[in-house]
Amino acid sequence: MDLGPLRKSYRGDEEAFEEQHLASRDPIQQFEVWFKDAVGCPDIGEANAMCLATCTRDGKPSARMVLLKGFGPDGFRFFTNHESRKGKELDANPFASLVFYWEPLNRQVRVEGSVRRLPEEESEQYFHSRPRSSQIGAVVSRQSSIIPDREYLRKKNAELEEQYRESAVPKPAYWGGYILQPEVVEFWQGQTNRLHDRIVFRRLRDSSAPLGAMTHRGEGDWIFQRLAP
Ligand SMILES: Cc1cc2nc3c(=O)[nH]c(=O)nc-3n(C[C@H](O)[C@H](O)[C@H](O)COP(=O)(O)O)c2cc1C
Repeated sequence: MDLGPLRKSYRGDEEAFEEQHLASRDPIQQFEVWFKDAVGCPDIGEANAMCLATCTRDGKPSARMVLLKGFGPDGFRFFTNHESRKGKELDANPFASLVFYWEPLNRQVRVEGSVRRLPEEESEQYFHSRPRSSQIGAVVSRQSSIIPDREYLRKKNAELEEQYRESAVPKPAYWGGYILQPEVVEFWQGQTNRLHDRIVFRRLRDSSAPLGAMTHRGEGDWIFQRLAP
């Protein structure tokens, strides 16, 4: 994606912009640039692996890796079991944070925002686009529940393989997607001299509010600032 024209329209602040090492003043477009770099990097196996942190209603956090399955101006999508620990935490407290770390590129992206379930049709569509073994895998176990042993999973898997040998695997009601709508997106670029770059984008709720000297206007309702590393 060529973001040259975008840059031109902000000529007034070109110097500061260049200094930010950003390709865009829109965090989702900036994310896309970095994500593509990560996907194209031969040393990164799963560029879409991200750490998802959720919280109980009373503020106790838990984190785990999940796979990013799509992103755009509306947010970041992932799929899981609604009855898992993370699913229950999201029911009780619909806010979460994501962290990507692309070690060979020395880059980290943090995202924070509110989370809601994707429409059932979208989950249904994605479920059936997955390999059959993954569809069965989603049905085999109630994620995060306690099970007796590995044999239990193996047996259940074999039963389901048999049951759905000639028919489509139905998406379980307890499996589906979420979308995290970003309120804060931070880009971290490690530098060899330890003077790392940190640029944080935040959504500006009141667009008429004056910005401080060190706050820059981004695209749409985004503003951005440089943070000390
Ligand atoms: C690289 C990686 C990717 C994963 N992707 C997913 C995923 O997309 N969805 C998912 O439900 N679990 C995924 N998992 C498993 C989760 O980390 C976790 O074990 C599971 O979702 C249960 O988490 P919970 O008990 O906190 O809800 C992934 C694990 C790894 C290591």
